[in-house]
Amino acid sequence: MADMNRQWLLASRPQGMVTESNFQYHEAPVPELEDGQFLVRNCYIAFEPAMRGWMDDRPSYIPPIQLGEVMRAVTTGQVVASKHPDYQPGDCVQGGFGWQEYAVTTGKGGLMPASKIPAGASLTAPLGVLGITGLTAYFGLLDLGQPKGGETCVVSGAAGATGSIAGQIARIKGCRVIGIAGGPDKCAWLTDAARFDAAIDYKSEDVAARLRELCPDGIHIFFDNVGGEILDAVLAQIAMKARIVLCGGISRYNDEELQPGPKNYFNLILQRARMEGFILVDYYRRFAEGVQELSGWLDSGQLIHQEDIQDGFANAPRTFLRLFEGKNLGKQLLKIADVR
Ligand SMILES: NC(=O)c1ccc[n+]([C@@H]2O[C@H](COP(=O)([O-])OP(=O)(O)OC[C@H]3O[C@@H](n4cnc5c(N)ncnc54)[C@H](OP(=O)(O)O)[C@@H]3O)[C@@H](O)[C@H]2O)c1
Repeated sequence: MADMNRQWLLASRPQGMVTESNFQYHEAPVPELEDGQFLVRNCYIAFEPAMRGWMDDRPSYIPPIQLGEVMRAVTTGQVVASKHPDYQPGDCVQGGFGWQEYAVTTGKGGLMPASKIPAGASLTAPLGVLGITGLTAYFGLLDLGQPKGGETCVVSGAAGATGSIAGQIARIKGCRVIGIAGGPDKCAWLTDAARFDAAIDYKSEDVAARLRELCPDGIHIFFDNVGGEILDAVLAQIAMKARIVLCGGISRYNDEELQPGPKNYFNLILQRARMEGFILVDYYRRFAEGVQELSGWLDSGQLIHQEDIQDGFANAPRTFLRLFEGKNLGKQLLKIADVR
């Protein structure tokens, strides 16, 4: 075990688009353990677009990351030393251990309390399809979207971690599913691998025209990860009693000034439709139910998941930026160590 801990700290608050210069590389001694603490060596770091919001100094559903603080993230890793009765060296764990090689923790508090990963189980699935990502898709699509067989469901950010799972759950529930994503490769993956019924490349196609063509009876469910112009194009074509699930709005996360709201919102009235936001943390007590059903779909082959695993601790800031450059297909992860 090294005595030096490598970390990435928040160095400055982004003005507009986040850049690598907003992060500072730092080395600090690995602290001595006190009673009730254990030491985790991180193996995988998960990246979420929401981290961009946590870098701003503004109130949100969790407090902002402070300047000089280790970047916040959910990770998986292995216990390497322990003065905690429930955690032994060798145990695999997940928790909110941040962008650092080692974390000292009591297992409580922070972004996410620690939990054990069964021996031999994947250290990446709990960060993606069986973690925040899959559960966001699951509860957002099912609780707010309320899919019914024969309906048309449109998903934006569809080749991303959350969107790809949300669209497949809608398909499992009997919907016709149309994904909106950037670029021909992502669109081909959506129809060929994830078995969406159709895909729209928003970077090269007229989204409104393609939606008119693909959804002649209107859009019953929209699972939105993007906001902005895509949300507006969908609002223009919603069906009666449509449900719009506001999961995220990545198109605006790096905007210095807020853009005006959607022009076509009035269609919510005309179509007696509902547009509703949600935050996954509100479903904490139901996580086990979601993990169980998602696992069942994975085991039966009804659901597939894609991981985009970059390598090397030095690449943490660069890996985070991939989310905003559209470089990731599926869940964006960074591997920084092997399980021993
Ligand atoms: N409400 C909640 O509790 C909750 C929880 C987790 C995640 N979320 C939200 O879910 C969304 C997806 O998160 P994720 O972790 O699954 O990330 P992701 O979709 O795997 O990655 C982000 C994707 O967003 C797309 N994108 C980036 N900039 C864009 C822009 N300006 N316009 C349109 N698309 C853009 C890119 O795909 P393309 O190449 O297709 O552009 C990129 O691959 C985010 O909005 C996130 O904040 C919400």
